Amino acid sequence: MKPILRREFLGVTATVGAALMLKNQITAQTPDSHIEILLNEAIGPINPNIYGHFVEHLGGVVYDGICVGEESKVANVNGIRKDLVDHMRRIKPGVIRWPGGCFADSYNWHDGVGPRKDRPRRTNFWRDDRARGNEGYQKLDSGPQKYEPNWFGTNEFMKFCRLSGAQPYVAANLRSLPAKDFYEWVEYCNAPAGQTTLSDLRAAGGDREPFKVEYWGIGNESWGCGGRFTAEEYSTEFRRFIAWAPRFGVNLKYIGAGPNGADVNWTRGFFSSLVNKGANQLNSVYGWALHFYAGTTGRGNPFEYTTDEWYELLARSDRMESLIKQHWQVMEEYDPTHRVKLIVDEWGAWHAQAGGLPDSHLFGYPGTLRDGLISALTLDTFNRHADKVVMANVAQLINTIHSLFVAYDDKFVATPNFHVFEMYSAHQNGQSLRTMFSSPTVSFKRAAPNIPQGGQAQLTPQQRAQLQAAQQNLNGTMWGLQGSASVNGKTLTLTVVNPHATEIRETAIAVRGGKVASGKATTLTASDIHTYNSFEKPQGLVPANGTVQVQSGSLVYRFPAASVTRLTLMLE
Ligand code: AHR
Repeated sequence: MKPILRREFLGVTATVGAALMLKNQITAQTPDSHIEILLNEAIGPINPNIYGHFVEHLGGVVYDGICVGEESKVANVNGIRKDLVDHMRRIKPGVIRWPGGCFADSYNWHDGVGPRKDRPRRTNFWRDDRARGNEGYQKLDSGPQKYEPNWFGTNEFMKFCRLSGAQPYVAANLRSLPAKDFYEWVEYCNAPAGQTTLSDLRAAGGDREPFKVEYWGIGNESWGCGGRFTAEEYSTEFRRFIAWAPRFGVNLKYIGAGPNGADVNWTRGFFSSLVNKGANQLNSVYGWALHFYAGTTGRGNPFEYTTDEWYELLARSDRMESLIKQHWQVMEEYDPTHRVKLIVDEWGAWHAQAGGLPDSHLFGYPGTLRDGLISALTLDTFNRHADKVVMANVAQLINTIHSLFVAYDDKFVATPNFHVFEMYSAHQNGQSLRTMFSSPTVSFKRAAPNIPQGGQAQLTPQQRAQLQAAQQNLNGTMWGLQGSASVNGKTLTLTVVNPHATEIRETAIAVRGGKVASGKATTLTASDIHTYNSFEKPQGLVPANGTVQVQSGSLVYRFPAASVTRLTLMLE
């Protein structure tokens, strides 16, 4: 089908077939926004792994968040927090990445297998790192957040994956262990019991059946905590690591430690060096993993922000789209048929620790509605680029950064991010559809960029010019409505973000190439843009269901201010 140009799109929206109306939402107003879904223009299947997760030995993520122990008073399934397992099943998690993050490049997997009583206690990478000049570390009990006890090792992680219904994605240590240890880890996980000493050790740990781990990350942030390599050096190390790993009949999918945000030089350096050895090297790379954290605003408190800061962080998170396009284009220079796909194995906003979590729960806080909208607009971006992005892992699952849950002792609460993941799980395995949005743009004032420590003198002339331009132009804009659509059989799922803090968007929705028979709506919103869920008020922000009526004539839906909406539309 011929793609529809924007001009044509605006022209046709008034004359579309079926009509959808949420009860009590029809007004006599003229729609100020338009959405057009093109059923005949599929982008690609939405890989469930786009809805993936990330678990690192950091703060309260593993110990307390996931692993409470069999003897705990906290309800658990074989030592794993039961509330978490129950919630994981609801979001169909696809894949879980472990054990890091930066931790991965200091982790010796041998420490986390065999009888628990014999496992060594090690330096906790994150606490040790934070300890430099940090009093909080000194105050910590000698518990698992201070010293890594290795209670939660490979078998325990696999158990968590099985209980959650997720595939494992294991990040190998490239910085501080030789390739031999990586091969042995593959052997431990994937060799049939009775075949090698390591597979027998796994079986003795209770897992006779091989784990059949397919996804293997080769290092993490190798430009930084993962070894401070140059892109070319990393490319060499990557090739060496994967050159001859044992397979045991499993199709190993290697994932390269990709760029930090917009660093296209890292992508270019890796791929140019890789293909220098021969274009066939591309066949052994499954994915190239970008990391992008949108950061925070003001002083970093997750609950305190102005309306301008609300928009600023949403707009900054929306950079994900241009990052995907930029890196994809650079990859194309070396890999014109795109054998290697994009992965975003760390993403999210990142505020300061808050919300009554103890000091042990490093970077922990329950996110607000603003973080929920960031999750939604990011997942929509991945859906719209389903032809490029095959996996993404939100950072992180529980108790740190952009988490879906916070937990402490027997307290547990789901954040708005969880609710968005549950709403959006309907897209999994659907065909992503080309969808066009048109709506009045939102204007806001950005905060003036900080002058780096040491002043402007240390900047290059180009950086100084950029900083000055950014300081002079603090006017920001972002789209008025954005989202994604997918179809699975007769079910059409449309998810939409309205970032406007106060304005409803009255929207004409056109479904081209099909007719809608019925529909329903689910919406996450609150009258206060700072709303969040806490241990005291766990239901402060939960999605509400609405009835959608289908009528002939024009098709209109009112997207509430500051909202995430899922419309589930049944096609005739
Ligand atoms: O998610 C926290 C940290 O952020 C990860 O360990 C690292 O990869 C990134 O810099």
